[in-house]
Amino acid sequence: MVFTNLAPNTEKDDASLACRLIFSPWRWQKGDAFIKLEKEIASLTTVKHTVSFESGRTALYAILTAAGITKGDEVLLQAYTCVAVPDPVLWAGATPVYVDIDETLTMSVADCEKKITPKSKAIIVQHTFGIPANLDSILALATRHSLLIIEDCAHALGATYHGKPVGSFGDAAFFSFGRDKVISSVFGGMAATNNPQLAEKIRSLQQSYPLPGFFWIKQQLLHPILMWLGKATYGFGGKIIIWLAKSLHLTSRAVYPIERVGGKPRFAGKRLSNALAILAIHQLKKLERFNTHRQKTAALYQELLSPLFVSHQLTSQLANLPAAAGRLTDKPIWLRYTIWTDHADRVKTECAKQGILSGDWYDTPIAPRGVSYERIGYKLGSCPVAEKIAARTINLPTDIHISENDAQKICNIITTFYGNSNTPTKR
Ligand SMILES: Cc1ncc(COP(=O)(O)O)c(C=O)c1O
Repeated sequence: MVFTNLAPNTEKDDASLACRLIFSPWRWQKGDAFIKLEKEIASLTTVKHTVSFESGRTALYAILTAAGITKGDEVLLQAYTCVAVPDPVLWAGATPVYVDIDETLTMSVADCEKKITPKSKAIIVQHTFGIPANLDSILALATRHSLLIIEDCAHALGATYHGKPVGSFGDAAFFSFGRDKVISSVFGGMAATNNPQLAEKIRSLQQSYPLPGFFWIKQQLLHPILMWLGKATYGFGGKIIIWLAKSLHLTSRAVYPIERVGGKPRFAGKRLSNALAILAIHQLKKLERFNTHRQKTAALYQELLSPLFVSHQLTSQLANLPAAAGRLTDKPIWLRYTIWTDHADRVKTECAKQGILSGDWYDTPIAPRGVSYERIGYKLGSCPVAEKIAARTINLPTDIHISENDAQKICNIITTFYGNSNTPTKR
């Protein structure tokens, strides 16, 4: 059995740390762990000022607010994203303007230029699945039009572009420590900037936000414990643990229903709690190992699936990188490995039959399914490449739990589906 979406970064030591924290409620809310985490992320990303929040979406909201972005302003951001990105723009009273992508799954600079208007104030540049976007061209475009650049590094902690860490290029950046991100404290986020005035404003917003409540923190601490337990005992009742955790709301959701209509959930607009900062610091020690594993797994997928790229039955983000001028990035980190095909639904069903759940990032232009395009201001047809790829996406896991055998099994299912008998097998 291969799991692709249950606490992909959680290992036994993370679950046992969460267990110790569960029994130390005096460490849940207040403490100085957030300061240590902020310093470590600043040193890793080489960005001078870092400010922590309870999620990446709140970090983005704080950046937008600190930058004075408000009603009447437009913020450009790519389609093929999560609703957690346009939502903070809406919470700030501004209007999200959706930009199409190219086949690297990051922003199309040409489409971005077309959608700039006198009301445009900022561009959110997403490094999708750990692939640095075309920063040279986007930064030049932003300079020409006097626009603020906010890097969305939710998928890209540890990735570099021209040898420099992502997050250090724009006017500001934000990172996520969400349950399925690069490192995970279930919920957590960080704003980063080299601009001291902007940093001061973001810091004072952080200070004005309350800490999350005890019940919410408990839900997050239970997540690694119950998911790890559920996975470890999956065939022996673990499935029930996971089902109960979700249906009894012992654990939280990644996206709440109100967010699908552009609303602000109750948990947002908070500081990072001490307990979750401790979990994130612990995960940060594993960053290099996690990212090296992701890169190796992506390379293996690429190698095993390559005959299908040659025969044009599949396309991959990785296969497109060398072809795209200016995209020869130093170090993408491959949070997921994405391929697309006209037969995505049938391939996914075939995988599911064999116990493999391929991810749903992003099978709609603004994910997850069920988002009200009307309420978040997305017009169907406005980003045709994103729509076309989303409808064909198969999103494969690269996390630390995916062994070489798992990756081979996944590729075998896919190649068998296409009846390709020449698939190379790695020994
Ligand atoms: C591309 C992208 N940006 C931002 C976010 C928001 O991060 P967080 O879940 O920490 O709020 C997410 C995830 O939800 C995401 O996928």
